[in-house]
Amino acid sequence: MNALSQKISFHDFQPELESFREAVLKGLSRRQKQIAPKFFYDETGSKLFEAILEQPEYYIPNVERDLLQSYADEIGRLIEPGSILIEPGSGSCEKVQLLLESLLPSAYVPMDISREFLKQSACDLGQQFPWLTIYAACLDFTQQMILPQGIPQGRRVVFIPGSSLGNFDPLEVQHFLTGIHRLTGKGGGLLIGLDRKKEPSVLNAAYNDAAGITAEFNRNLLTRINNELDGHFDLDRFEHRAFYNDQRGRIEMHLVSREEQQVSISGQDFRFIKGETIHTENSYKYSPDEFMTLANAGGFKLLKLWSDDNHLFSIYFLVAV
Ligand code: AVJ
Repeated sequence: MNALSQKISFHDFQPELESFREAVLKGLSRRQKQIAPKFFYDETGSKLFEAILEQPEYYIPNVERDLLQSYADEIGRLIEPGSILIEPGSGSCEKVQLLLESLLPSAYVPMDISREFLKQSACDLGQQFPWLTIYAACLDFTQQMILPQGIPQGRRVVFIPGSSLGNFDPLEVQHFLTGIHRLTGKGGGLLIGLDRKKEPSVLNAAYNDAAGITAEFNRNLLTRINNELDGHFDLDRFEHRAFYNDQRGRIEMHLVSREEQQVSISGQDFRFIKGETIHTENSYKYSPDEFMTLANAGGFKLLKLWSDDNHLFSIYFLVAV
């Protein structure tokens, strides 16, 4: 642990670089080549993601912000002051700012895999909310959900905004919720923002923004492999593809090989035929009923559900039973 200031501490659980290499080499050896979306988020990737949040087609941030703002006080009454607020995949720590004044937690634990981005975001947050105690934890929350030593006692509440849970497939969601249940214990809270099923054209536009930022975000994964794993991807020979898979209820993102080619990574050669893809992300969309079924199976009971008038997005408050 090293102290950045009195109220902010940084805890490095060292999610390892080697796991990136292993994941890439293994993922590209499969019949359907794939790399998990958590690897998008190096420093450039995190910045590109922030830019996605600004795109007009990507409706999630605005709808969720409106909901959090409108219902902050109501959420505050459900989550009493003095709780330990834990946010896996905290990114810029922007959403939580809408809640802090209503929730008055005794500690906030942002968790992110992107080390420097996490440090920066925690520092910025600390400046804006000088009364807030922050325990920033650098970890891969899909692998480990550890709380830093020394956090105060109090009701544990996990906050997962931005539809991040959409990256997991339904079975993984159930497993993940079981893990959160273990972390919070009975009576713990779970505040989740999740994107909903809707008109596919709206979804397709959201992941194919006109400015091409989502495409850049997707392709940055190849740059990252080139830089960190001695990869030799020619970015001009891969293109972004995102589409709604109706049968699976998810957006899929792929990187499509424009031609037959061979790419060397860490001294290993990988062949691509023309049109072959690397599957880089799933983003599941849930109706409230579908999500409630999963949540119940994971040990959580719904206390309250908020949605926008257009039924684009929902925020759920659940309690561990
Ligand atoms: C961070 C997983 C919620 O799936 O909407 C946005 C990531 N990918 N545009 C999403 C993402 C492409 C985002 N999540």
